[in-house]
Amino acid sequence: MNALTRTASAYWASSIGKKLVVAITGIVLVLFLAGHMTGNLLLFAGREAFNDYAQFLHHSLHGAGIWIARLGLLAALFLHIAATIALTRQNRAARQPYEYNNTIQASKSSRIMIWTGLTILFFVIYHLMHYTIHAGNSYETYVDPAYLAETGESRHDAWKMVIDGFRVWYVSIFYIISMTVLCSHLGHGVASIFQTLGFNSKKSRPFIERFSWGYTAVIWLGFVSIPVAILIFRYGY
Ligand code: HEM
Repeated sequence: MNALTRTASAYWASSIGKKLVVAITGIVLVLFLAGHMTGNLLLFAGREAFNDYAQFLHHSLHGAGIWIARLGLLAALFLHIAATIALTRQNRAARQPYEYNNTIQASKSSRIMIWTGLTILFFVIYHLMHYTIHAGNSYETYVDPAYLAETGESRHDAWKMVIDGFRVWYVSIFYIISMTVLCSHLGHGVASIFQTLGFNSKKSRPFIERFSWGYTAVIWLGFVSIPVAILIFRYGY
């Protein structure tokens, strides 16, 4: 074992090491959500703007950009889950009977975090099948007509694909519920990141709470506005 592997495994064995892994990967995922939500809002700028954006994502760095982002996200998600599971096991093993009352509150909120986290995982798998792998719909049916007429080349009509997806009422309802669960996880998670990083004095706590729930509210409104606009206000073509 070289020095680097020894340091990494000692770090992983400690509870604070795992907490830091959860916090740092949490920051990556929280920033991804803000970026993804902002990009998705381009849907309201119209077909051309949204499809330009999707095309940019797929072709940046000659197509390598999206794979770098995918691998980074996957690594962050895997480490986030692995460290959470290891931390929960460690806490359970270390708990003494006399500590029971003190830990009821903490374990209740971490149980909620585990359930909301598992729901998000299920949602992400569904979402990838829906819009990335296109399970159940053909990629060929979504060709941007204006771009084809203008350039003679075909490109994916991500705008129409999203609109068609959310016109199905139970799909929209499922997204709205999933994003509400996601935001419950996010509100607690963002506050916990600050705590792990040591910014949790009595003075800063109210600010941290307000910031965490404010950020979460913006993410929720941004994401949920899309199925709501399409399903209820019939936004689209
Ligand atoms: C209204 C809400 C959402 C919409 C309209 C939406 C839309 C999309 C679309 C169109 C894609 C495919 C991009 C492409 O390949 O061109 C995508 C990919 C993705 N979305 Fe979402 N999304 C939403 C919410 C979310 C949420 C809440 C999460 C995370 C919890 C998420 C995580 C992802 C991930 C991980 C990918 C895969 C990126 C890739 O590898 O290509 N999305 N989304």
